[in-house]
Order: sequence, then C-alpha cells, then structure tokens
Amino acid sequence: MESIEEVKTLIGKAKRVCVLTGAGVSAESGIATFRGYSEEAGESLWSQYDPQQLASIEGFLREPEMVWRWYQWRRQVNQDKQPNPAHTAIANWQKAAKNSGQQEVSLITQNVDGLHQKAGSDPDQFSVIEIHGNIWQNHCLGCDKPYLEDVTGIQTVPTCQSCGGQIRPSVVWFGEALDETKWQVAETAAYCCDLFLSIGTSSQVYPAAGLMMLAKSQGAKVVEVNPEPTQSRVVDYQIRGKAGEILPKLIDY
Ligand code: OAD
Repeated sequence: MESIEEVKTLIGKAKRVCVLTGAGVSAESGIATFRGYSEEAGESLWSQYDPQQLASIEGFLREPEMVWRWYQWRRQVNQDKQPNPAHTAIANWQKAAKNSGQQEVSLITQNVDGLHQKAGSDPDQFSVIEIHGNIWQNHCLGCDKPYLEDVTGIQTVPTCQSCGGQIRPSVVWFGEALDETKWQVAETAAYCCDLFLSIGTSSQVYPAAGLMMLAKSQGAKVVEVNPEPTQSRVVDYQIRGKAGEILPKLIDY
C-alpha cells in the first residue's frame, strides 16, 4: 500500500498525465478480457475463440457471416454492461482536471466497449482516444463510409447503400493500421506526459504497448495497475490489484 500513497503524490504533482486502459478495466463490469482469467468476467475471449478467424480481414473475407454474428453476439452481451468505479474515477478526474486547468489528463483506450464514455469521459474523440475503434459502430469494407443504420438483431452482413460493399464492425483487426489521427494524438499524449498510468492491459499488443516505453524514454514516471504480472518492463510503480478497487483510492474525485 506504500506505492498507493506514493502514486497519489505523483498524481497530485503531475501536469500532464496519460492514461492507457485495456480490457482489464472493464472486467469488473462483466466484460471478458482477451487474455488471462477474470473473476468477474470469466474465461478470456482468445482462450475460447480464434483471433485469426474473428479478428482479421482474412477471417472476415473467408466467413463474413460467421464473423458478423460473433460481433453481434458481443454487442448483445455488452449492451447492458455498466461502467465500474475505475471508469467513473477516471471520468471524474478528467472533469476536475479540465475545470481546474491545472492538469491535463489524456485517456487512451484499447477497449471498444464505450464504457469510458458511459461513465462520463467526454465523448469528444480527443478526450477518449479509442485506438482500436468502437464495437457499436460499423463501416463499409469497400468505400469506408460509416454505416449508420440500426443493426440490432441483424444476423446477416448488411450491404452499403452507396457501393454495395460488405458492412463490418469498426474495430481494428490484427494486421490493420490504427486510425492515423487517433494514433498521433495518443503518441503525443504519451510523449509529452510526466506521468503514465497503464491500467488493465497485458501490454502484449503493439503499437499500444509501446506507448509506455515512449513516455518512459521522455522521463515520465510509469505506473501499472493490474492484479497480474504483465509483459511491461519499464514500470516504476506496480500496483497489484483490481482497477475498480485501486483507482478510487488513487484518485480522490
Ligand atoms: P488483455 O485481455 O490482453 O489483458 C487484460 C489484462 O487485464 C490482463 O493483464 C489482466 O491481468 C488484467 N485484468 C484482469 N482483471 C482486471 C481488473 N479487475 N483490473 C485490472 N486489470 C485486470 O487486454 P488488452 O491488453 O486490452 O485488440 O488487449 C489488447 C488488445 O488485444 C485488445 O484491444 C484487443 C486484443 O486482441 C483488438 O481487438 C484489436
């Protein structure tokens, strides 16, 4: 618990904070992580399903209906899920920092579930930077145009009204590039911060996992909140615990 007090002091002093969240921050909301096991959310997705089949363009082209239905299933599972105290603590922190004008708190998430926004983090894309996309959105594989129709309960792949292309979920799949603008904002936030918080991520997936190294290389202190050890090697303070229990202790808003 010593490190909690030390990190609270760091948080109090920091001028620019960069927060990176991963699937673990939503585990206590009942949303499955991709790797590892969580008490609240059970078995991880990639221990039960094949990411090559369900999270790659090759998989979608091979079996689009099956991939579409899997995302429809995930949407159904996620739709009633609520933010937990970790999401709320971060959202309140962002609001307080903005109001005081004394601190900048950038939030980068690898999650596609929208729970940071549900908790009140400003939906402006530069306040919650969703580098892996958003599971509630869709776009055309052919012409990239956003698909704005309600797809609730639709179990076959919709087609684009403009070009007839197949509609896909707007999440980043393995092998795909991240949105350039969002990535630049994320890199800048990591590069310029004096404190980097990595919360609920296994730090296995790049380029997101590299943000911590970037921050560290520029002199930032790096804090990790995770009940399990991870792949990260540049952490100054490791807080072993669940995000929903630790974050409200670190952040007094
Ligand atoms: P992972 O599923 O790889 O890792 C989740 C991490 O959360 C693990 O290190 C767990 O120990 C930790 N964890 C579990 N419960 C927690 C809790 N209550 N509080 C805090 N941490 C907890 O998730 P990510 O690192 O986000 O990509 O995965 C990165 C990317 O891999 C995802 O965005 C996804 C996936 O393939 C795409 O979909 C593109």
